[in-house]
Amino acid sequence: MRKYLLSLEELDSLVENIVENFNSGVIILRGNLAAGKTTFVKRAVKCMGIDDEVTSPTFSLQHCYTDSVFHYDMYNHGLEHFISLGMLEELDKEGLHFVEWGDDELAEILNSAEIKNMTITIEKISDDKREYTICTH
Ligand SMILES: Nc1ncnc2c1ncn2[C@@H]1O[C@H](COP(=O)(O)OP(=O)(O)O)[C@@H](O)[C@H]1O
Ligand SMILES: [Mg+2]
Repeated sequence: MRKYLLSLEELDSLVENIVENFNSGVIILRGNLAAGKTTFVKRAVKCMGIDDEVTSPTFSLQHCYTDSVFHYDMYNHGLEHFISLGMLEELDKEGLHFVEWGDDELAEILNSAEIKNMTITIEKISDDKREYTICTH
């Protein structure tokens, strides 16, 4: 487990490091509303040289940025619903998958299915600082 306390300006170095070392699999993003989950995905997509606009897929299941970067938001779905819609098969596809509002249960299911995953928990420490806790499984 690694922890980082970062401002928005300091975030890119962490994002670059993660994207370089974890280019396929599932990144679960946890944290309250406005913690910075979508921001993390925005920075990661930009860092990979993709120009697409990044927004949280609140009303759709999945946003695709190129054919190898995918974005999900489980907030409105819940794990069982999410899985019943076939998302486990999606998450198993080659590429990098960001899942906002994933949880430990999702991590366990991914582990059982031998789908590589990591969890980043973001906590708002102050208006301009967030704590990022990185857990690889
Ligand atoms: N490391 C950070 N330091 C300071 N502010 C941040 C950081 N990361 C995100 N923010 C800010 O937090 C706000 C909410 O971010 P957002 O990514 O929309 O949160 P979430 O998707 O978790 O609801 C945005 O205004 C964003 O600029
Ligand atoms: Mg969001």
